[in-house]
Amino acid sequence: MSNLAELKEAFIKNYGDGEGIRFFASPGRVNLIGEHTDYNGGYVFPAAISACSTVAVRKRNDNIVRIKATDLDEIATIDINHIKDYKNLKYGNYQAGVIDEMLKDGYIMTGADMLYEDGVPHGGGLSSSAAIEVVTACVFNTFSKESGGKSGTPVDLALIGQKAENNYVGVNCGIMDQFASANGKKDMAMFLKCDDLSYELVPIKLGDCKLVLSNTNKKHKLGESKYNERRSECEKGFADLKKVMPDKNCLGEITPDEFEKNKAAIKDPVVLKRITHVIYEDDRVLKSVKALKSGDIASFGQYMNQSHASLKDLYEVTGYELDTLAETAQKVSGVIGSRMTGGGFGGCTVSIVKEDSIDNFIKVVGEIYKKEIGYDASFYIFDIGDGGREIK
Ligand code: GLA
Repeated sequence: MSNLAELKEAFIKNYGDGEGIRFFASPGRVNLIGEHTDYNGGYVFPAAISACSTVAVRKRNDNIVRIKATDLDEIATIDINHIKDYKNLKYGNYQAGVIDEMLKDGYIMTGADMLYEDGVPHGGGLSSSAAIEVVTACVFNTFSKESGGKSGTPVDLALIGQKAENNYVGVNCGIMDQFASANGKKDMAMFLKCDDLSYELVPIKLGDCKLVLSNTNKKHKLGESKYNERRSECEKGFADLKKVMPDKNCLGEITPDEFEKNKAAIKDPVVLKRITHVIYEDDRVLKSVKALKSGDIASFGQYMNQSHASLKDLYEVTGYELDTLAETAQKVSGVIGSRMTGGGFGGCTVSIVKEDSIDNFIKVVGEIYKKEIGYDASFYIFDIGDGGREIK
C-alpha cells in the first residue's frame, strides 16, 4: 500500500465510513555514526529516512483504542482505563506502552480507531518500533492538545517512546531512535549529545555520493538480551572509572586522553574492550561531524570503517552477516565507507557510495552475500526525510 487514498479505503473497510479520518506519519532512522554511545551520555549522528509508520486514525467518544496493521488480520482492543492489562499483546504492545506512558505523564487520552501501515522494514535495524511509538505519541499528543490538555514537544514525544520501549517492550534502549524519528528534518542529520539532548542539524551533503542501506535480512530479535548485557557492561566500566575520575557523570564526558590515563581502573578485560569502543566511537562522531561540515567525505568514510571494526572487535555486536556486508562493501570501488547501523546482531549496514558505482555495488555485494550466507540481502536508497507529523 503506498498512498493515503488506499490507506483510507482500508481504514473504512475495517472501521466503517464517517467523518474525521486523519493521517499521521513518523519515520525510521539510519545512524551515520555513533553506535552504542547514546545510553552512555555520548554523541550520535542519525538521520530520519523517508520510510515511515503511517497511521489512519479517527477519534472515538469513549475510552477504547482499536489497533490494526494493514499486514495483520487481528485487531487489538485496548481499554484506556485498564491499560495495565495489556502488557503482553501479540500485536499492539508498542502502542499500549505509549498510551500508558502518556497517561502517567498527564495527557488527556481519548479512544481511537487506528490502522497502521508500517513502511519501515521490520527487524531491519532501522527503528521500525521507534517509528510506531513516535507516530502513536504524535496522534495522542494532538488529540490531547485539541481537548485543551497537555501538549508535548517532539523531544517529549521521543522520551515517551523510549519509556514505552524500556518499560513495556523490555529493551533498555537509549534515546537515539525515538529522538531521530520525532525530530528528523529533510536532508539533515542530527548531531545529538545524549546526556542533555542538545542537538544541531547538519546538512547531509555527499557530493556525487548517496547513502545505500544493505539489509542482512537476519532478524535481530536475539540481540535484545545482548543489548541489555552490553548496557550493564558499560555501567560496570563507568563505575570503575568513576572511582578514579569522581567528577565525571557518564562515559560521554571522558575524552580519549583522559581514558588512556585512567583505564587501568577497569580490571575486567571484556569490560575494558566495551569501554574502549564507546570512548573512541564518541571521538569518531565529533571528527565525522567536522568532516561532513567541511565536505571531507573521504575522512568521514574512514571513520565509518573504523566504527565498524570497533563494533566487531571491541563491542562484539556485528556477526558474520553484518561483517560480510560491511567488509565486502569497503573493498568495492566507489565505496567511501561502510558500517553497521543501529543495535547490531542483524539489521542493516549503511554505505556511502558514488552514484555511478551503485549498480555495481549492489551486484557485487549482493552476490558475495548470497554465496557466503545462503540467502539474499536487500538494498535500499532512502531519502532523508522529516520527523513525526500530521499529514494534512
Ligand atoms: C538501538 C537502540 C538505540 C542505540 C542503538 C545503538 O538502535 O534503540 O538506543 O543504543 O541500538 O547505537
